[in-house]
Amino acid sequence: MIRTHTCGELTIADDTKRVTISGWVHRIRDHGGVFFIDLRDRYGLTQVVFNPDINAQSHQAAQEIKPEYVIEVTGVIEPRPDGTENLKLPTGQIEVRAEILNVLSKSETPPFPIADDDQPVGEDIRLKYRFLDLRRSKLQAGLLARHRVVLAVRNYLSENGFIEIETPMLGKSTPEGARDYLVPSRVNPGTFYALPQSPQLMKQLLMVSGFDRYFQICRCFRDEDLRADRQPEFTQIDLEMSFATEEDIYSVTEGILYHCFKAGIDKEIELPFKRLSHPQAIELYGIDKPDLRFDMHLSNLTELAGQSEMTIFKEVIGRGGIIKGVAVPGGCKFSRKEIDDLTKFAAIYGAKGMAYIKVTSDGFTSPIAKFFSQDLLKQIVQRTGAATGDIVFMIADSPKIVNDSLAALRNKLGKELGLYDEKEFNFLWVTDFPLFSYNEEEDRFESEHHPFTSPKTEDIPILDSDPLKVRSASYDLVVNGVETASGSVRIHQSEIQQKVFKLLKMTDDEIRSKFGFFIDALKFGAPPHAGIAPGLDRILMIMLGLDSIRDVIAFPKTQKATDLMSAAPSEVDARQLKELHISLDT
Ligand code: AMO
Repeated sequence: MIRTHTCGELTIADDTKRVTISGWVHRIRDHGGVFFIDLRDRYGLTQVVFNPDINAQSHQAAQEIKPEYVIEVTGVIEPRPDGTENLKLPTGQIEVRAEILNVLSKSETPPFPIADDDQPVGEDIRLKYRFLDLRRSKLQAGLLARHRVVLAVRNYLSENGFIEIETPMLGKSTPEGARDYLVPSRVNPGTFYALPQSPQLMKQLLMVSGFDRYFQICRCFRDEDLRADRQPEFTQIDLEMSFATEEDIYSVTEGILYHCFKAGIDKEIELPFKRLSHPQAIELYGIDKPDLRFDMHLSNLTELAGQSEMTIFKEVIGRGGIIKGVAVPGGCKFSRKEIDDLTKFAAIYGAKGMAYIKVTSDGFTSPIAKFFSQDLLKQIVQRTGAATGDIVFMIADSPKIVNDSLAALRNKLGKELGLYDEKEFNFLWVTDFPLFSYNEEEDRFESEHHPFTSPKTEDIPILDSDPLKVRSASYDLVVNGVETASGSVRIHQSEIQQKVFKLLKMTDDEIRSKFGFFIDALKFGAPPHAGIAPGLDRILMIMLGLDSIRDVIAFPKTQKATDLMSAAPSEVDARQLKELHISLDT
């Protein structure tokens, strides 16, 4: 027999049709000698009935069937008896009355129930039996959405003149801020390829070669600390455009996101996205990826709080620190213990203390009130926009500690107090990042994005004199507080590229050995170009309301970068190591 129909597509219009369907046994119910089996394939479920009056032999065989057996059933489609329809299921009005049953494959009892999606199952066991977890509806839905999204992106970009070009997996390292995964070369003893952290250099070289609109749905590899939104291998929608400005990239990327959401969850998102410059984002939210589903902005209180009699505040200001505050809606109701816990939370980010002012209908309550005049307290409260019933939290420290701790507090309280609709999507461009940040431990500048990012043209003259003031022509796309895409206008002049490398403290020899080919390419007519790389896994995670990108990747790794199913990474034969001229020192 051959499957004539799938389990998800049968409707009442197929009434009296004889069909053959096959799939996995989802649920079995025994109703006094009549067996009901929900048969599942990736298209859906169909109820199959084994009745001794229809076919005694099949009915007898059906008694042996267990969940997750693969069976094939031939039978006639009939409407379900009145009152037994299930209108929640597309196939809920019909059933297949089984005549012939074939067991195609038996199954051991699965380590967790496949049919019951809501039952909590530890992630380790799900990852070990990933092939079974992938049968469950949540992961099936995730991978099907992923397919639709990738297809939509390919179509949209192709229609807009982009062509997909593959770049090597075995290559030379491109710095994206993580460690490389290395692959030893057998034929060139002692040398290694690096798996790409991104195709950054290759896509820029394609611009030099004249492919003015490139894209690639591309796998990237990074050996870094893993989190819910980070995997050691992940997928970017990587693109690059010649003769393009920031505005061109914004518009193409917004188009990509529009088509992703339409194809993935049939949602038409609103364009264009909001924008904030990097300094604005830090000033208002303390972070370069603010979640703007709720307001709760930070306010700079340095000048006002500095007028108080608080010695700590004065000391902090004397050291070049700042004081910022945030008004938490309804925060007056926080108990002493809750405030202590929030203070401990802020301490994780370095805050040595946290002051508060409760704005009650009877006036201000605050342990530090005695250091302030009533008028000063009023001005501070007004500056933060706090209303009666709110609490104002204040932190005084270095700008980094103040911003980091208040931003984390804002995110935590926004979620815990339910200040936003979890189902909402909020898109934000953060633009004009600084070109460099300063690494105090190593006493050197680091690229805020990557070293190929162009300074703003008007800031090029201060590259040597005031590097930390130089802004870059770069942008991040933030969705619900998650960095979802990152890109920039690139340097296309070899002299400026070399200058940037030198500011990053690279020697001439290092520049030549690591990037000589790239500097050369920039000398042979490199067009101005710009690009971006949205992270496909993160887009899907946010769109589908999931907590981890592991749920949209077929075979993901654990936090420790292992595959629990196949037990990778694993040791290799001594012979293989010898061929690669590698000896271990573990
Ligand atoms: P960047 O390093 O910011 O930029 O990466 C771009 C986007 O890729 C996603 N991403 C990740 N997703 C899952 N797991 C990870 N470990 C991970 N790391 C990054 C994020 C991020 O916004 N070459 C540049 C882009 C460019 O300039 O065109 C780059 O790779 O969504």
